[in-house]
Amino acid sequence: MNLVPFGYRPTTAASTRAVRRGDLARRAGWTAAAAFLGLGLLAGCAQSEPASPSPDTATTSPAPEPTPDPAPAQPEFDRSAQSIDDPASLWVISNKSRPLDPVDWAPSDLVATSGVENEFDQPLREPAARAVEALIGAAADAGHSVWIISAYRDYGTQVALYDGYVDRDGAAAADRYSARPGHSEHQTGLVVDLDDHGDCYLDGCFGDTPAGKWLAENAADYGFVIRYPEGKEQVTGFMPEPWHFRFVGTELALEMRDQGVTTLEEFFGLPAAPDYP
Ligand code: DAL
Ligand code: ZN
Repeated sequence: MNLVPFGYRPTTAASTRAVRRGDLARRAGWTAAAAFLGLGLLAGCAQSEPASPSPDTATTSPAPEPTPDPAPAQPEFDRSAQSIDDPASLWVISNKSRPLDPVDWAPSDLVATSGVENEFDQPLREPAARAVEALIGAAADAGHSVWIISAYRDYGTQVALYDGYVDRDGAAAADRYSARPGHSEHQTGLVVDLDDHGDCYLDGCFGDTPAGKWLAENAADYGFVIRYPEGKEQVTGFMPEPWHFRFVGTELALEMRDQGVTTLEEFFGLPAAPDYP
């Protein structure tokens, strides 16, 4: 049987100190009351009821422990706060069954990145540019030399890239790692491919490097998610890409990390998109 002493409270250093203070206060109160009663008996005025505590005694009684305020209920995350369909939205989701609309959409707030290495000087949408600069700066502070190896790609660039991969590897293989034009989130201006100047350039081993691990752990603090995580090819449609970071803003990225949900499809309840229709 689990016996719990009356008045048991979980012990913490603070509660132990409070209990000790209470013991001393109680002892002081009883000593004063006993002295008062003893004096009364000696004076031949025994009382039928215990003496009520004197004002002095009352002030030495243990103060009630403050009860912590209950934690305010967290409002449920609002999944409809931003559009997942509008290509201009920071939450837009494109995959094999969700082409950008229109397919040749282009952002209007592209800016150059500043203070970071950017291999092809591809721009990004302004909020993504500022966020990746902060992310790379924090990575540098942690000892990792991270640079951008791809960022915004327009529709025409994705045509050339995808066609080149199909020529080299065939369509079935290319479709596992390169999005068809109009389906690449690089076209939103919200994606960066990152590297550490090591031997895992655009390679799955990047996720095992110290820089790759640091980025995976800390990207959400800067509003990024790994868009194609390990074990989710049947959901996202693409092989794991531990170098490919999608900016969605800190509110969503941190919520996904808190909930342990790793894909945008699962977080927003979208159907898995393993193949093109
Ligand atoms: N590599 C990703 C899937 C892209 O082409 O956008
Ligand atoms: Zn990429």
